[in-house]
Amino acid sequence: MAKKSRLDFSQMVVEGQKIVYLTAYDYLTAKMVEKAGIDMILVGDSLGMVSLGYDTTLPVSMDDMIRHCQAVRRGAPNTFIVGDMPYMSYQVSDEEAVFNAGRFIREGGADAVKLEGGGPRMASRIKAINESGILVMGHIGLTPQSMAQQGGYKAQGRNSQAAINIVKEAKRLEEAGAFSILVEAVPTVVGKVITERAGIPILGIGAGPYTHGQLLIYADMIGLYENFTPKFVKKYASVNEIITNAFKEYAKDVREKNFPVDEEHTYKMEKEVIEEFLKLIKEEAIG
Ligand code: KIV
Repeated sequence: MAKKSRLDFSQMVVEGQKIVYLTAYDYLTAKMVEKAGIDMILVGDSLGMVSLGYDTTLPVSMDDMIRHCQAVRRGAPNTFIVGDMPYMSYQVSDEEAVFNAGRFIREGGADAVKLEGGGPRMASRIKAINESGILVMGHIGLTPQSMAQQGGYKAQGRNSQAAINIVKEAKRLEEAGAFSILVEAVPTVVGKVITERAGIPILGIGAGPYTHGQLLIYADMIGLYENFTPKFVKKYASVNEIITNAFKEYAKDVREKNFPVDEEHTYKMEKEVIEEFLKLIKEEAIG
């Protein structure tokens, strides 16, 4: 299947087809995601928690992101990839934001970048990145890089004023030139109102069923990452259990001397060659 472009995503919106968006952080997962026909991959800074074992996404660096983006591109050469700009790679200035967005495209092989926040400062970053010729996705609602200000990983826009503010942020980012906006962890009605008023694809993660597409973190939806599961995650498998059980069985087999004993998993030598070999060992008096 050919890689989709922003025009394909706009066309999908016109035709009422949902855009399917999933994270991936490595080659193997990206390969499976592409094989499953997912429309768009996010190399999210959530890899800091899922793949690198941090408690938050804040320690993730540009170099971490580029390395993982490259691996995902190798695994999914025909899928549209969005590189997630990590903490402090865009907050300081428009210039730094453009420079780091460019690294995602040139070094990471991404098709677009995403950044968090809906205020005037982030609108300025989006405008600058867009004017440099790079597709940029906004991200509003729950924005994990601002977790301290938001009081933890909590749903946003749950009172009328907060909800209005998020709707205004969506408009601001669209006007700044975002090609798409991701809305995270807001009440369904807020996701619906944003989507109805948008002229660009609105993707949701915990924003209800009305957005133009849906994102999930792959390790959540396959039941691999068990430290914390947000309310909006639907689990499609229990991969952590399957893998842990396989590791346990392997350990048992080795300890009970049941592996590797069968012909299927060992290399053979002809009988005469073995005899010759053992004779030579004796003659050479090795060991
Ligand atoms: O890093 C990520 O995976 C994200 C999602 C949580 C939206 O930004």
